[in-house]
Amino acid sequence: MKKITDILTQKVSAAFEDAGYTADLGAVTVSNRPELCQFQCNGALGGAKKFRKPPMAIAGEIASALASDAAFKEVSAAPPGFINITLSDDYIVSLLGEISGDPALGVSQDGAGQTIVIDYGGPNVAKELHIGHLRSAIIGEALKRTARAVGCTVYGDVHFGDWGTPYGLTIAEYKVRHPDWACFRDDFDPARDSFPDIDEKELNQIYPYASAKAKEDPDFKAEARQVVVDLQNRKPGIFAIWKKMKDVSVASTKRIYAGLSVDFDYWYGESDADVYTPELIEILKNKGLLYESEGAQVVDVSEESDKISVPPIIVKKSDNSSIYATWDLAAIIQRERDFKPDKIWYLTDKRQNLHFTQVFRCAKKAGLVPETTELRHLGFGAMTGPDGKPFKTRDGGVLSLGSLMEMVDGAALEKLKDSEYIVGDKREVAHKIGVAGLKFGDMQNHPTKDYIFDLDKFLSFDGKTGTYLLYTVTRINSILKKAGEQGGGPITGIFSDAERELALGLLMTPEAYSRAFCDMNPSALCDAAYTVAQSFSKLYHDTKILSEEDSAKRSSLLSLCSLTGRCLEKMLACLGIETVENM
Ligand code: ARG
Repeated sequence: MKKITDILTQKVSAAFEDAGYTADLGAVTVSNRPELCQFQCNGALGGAKKFRKPPMAIAGEIASALASDAAFKEVSAAPPGFINITLSDDYIVSLLGEISGDPALGVSQDGAGQTIVIDYGGPNVAKELHIGHLRSAIIGEALKRTARAVGCTVYGDVHFGDWGTPYGLTIAEYKVRHPDWACFRDDFDPARDSFPDIDEKELNQIYPYASAKAKEDPDFKAEARQVVVDLQNRKPGIFAIWKKMKDVSVASTKRIYAGLSVDFDYWYGESDADVYTPELIEILKNKGLLYESEGAQVVDVSEESDKISVPPIIVKKSDNSSIYATWDLAAIIQRERDFKPDKIWYLTDKRQNLHFTQVFRCAKKAGLVPETTELRHLGFGAMTGPDGKPFKTRDGGVLSLGSLMEMVDGAALEKLKDSEYIVGDKREVAHKIGVAGLKFGDMQNHPTKDYIFDLDKFLSFDGKTGTYLLYTVTRINSILKKAGEQGGGPITGIFSDAERELALGLLMTPEAYSRAFCDMNPSALCDAAYTVAQSFSKLYHDTKILSEEDSAKRSSLLSLCSLTGRCLEKMLACLGIETVENM
């Protein structure tokens, strides 16, 4: 189904054309003065210059041409030349019917035929997930679902940080602590030898320890560097312990992501991308792009129009080892080969903006993807404490994602303490409410902005919160349950201002999907969902629904409730938020 603004644009464009003007003047947008009208077109203002005619005259002409269209209750010209549009209730009702009968609930399939790889999450082996990874995971998951909702084929890839210096340090420290492990013997044979399981707690502690130690202990640092070389050469014992470390990290990451309803189609890591590094170097060399600078192999990616300096991208360090950027480039080769994507999107915090500018320019220069492939980075802001500084634990440490989730679940459970409505496991319901609060609290902000982590606010039943939205859905479900019908019949009319407002909010939801997708900004969906929920609450307070005596009216109202519930659930699902039965 087409978006409402597209349908109206088509009508108004035709009117402009029929009257001897040009169709491009007919663009219709949602009114920015809702008290005056529902939609507006500003084309007469632009047309005035082009056709040397007063804007009000053009606006008047178009308005009267449209007056006979039954879709409109009113079309009028307003100074200095706006065309104000209000839809007829019958037309609104017919559009609601179309949305309700559409399996996509009116969401236009603008992305059909497009393939996107979304690179998000970005956890690292041997480094516990921390809140820096939270935003990437939840915004990325929402964008993946939104892209699918508009018809794209989407592959989510976690791009695990699993190759390079940190793992050399970690393994070197294991060797100090457990010199007896078979994997450290030169004659290690994976078919014959085994070594103890990796303890998850030790794994999470060992990297920060080893990294600090390397700063003070040059011998240890040299040892770690040798381990990196051994690892990159896939020496059996070193490769075996690395593999075990990775398995433990992946398992714990999967567990935490599952609790956040975040999942990936591919769990590729830097190590998988590294397979393509030799090919990358070949391409860069053949194209004459690679040159030596201070011992390193680099590619120049500056452009004349640069306002800030964009330094050459380092592809190989002076010791010939590969780094973060190498694997990002190599992964592009793999993705192009496996998926032929139209777009590759990356989500990390905005401190990596420059890195991705370098990577994208290098990829295009080297022709790793066609010129038309969109390579786009969403650099998001930080989640901060009340002081505006990146969120920390009480003792100033980095908060692990696991601890954060415990905190969120605990607070949600406390909120539900006195609720008598929960059926089933209170902890499970509390977890869903906690995740909803956290996700909505995050994504209702523009992703590039910092926001304050305020759990109390996120879990509040009032205001623009995930909790309020879940509550609204449970309220709708309870009405439908009490009515004993799921609102399967058609919506037959609009009987009040509150219903009209809700109906318009529902007509507007497909616009939100398009905006969230095109701008990589889930807050568009949060706004639309909140608007619908608020309008529903108003309707609920102002209108008799269950006790309505006129049975036709009652049935239509219930259908409106049902459609509202379905639209809300779909938006929440796109945001990666699960609803609950009762709360
Ligand atoms: N592992 C990285 C980090 O923790 C994020 C990876 C993001 N994705 C990418 N293709 N570089 O910062």
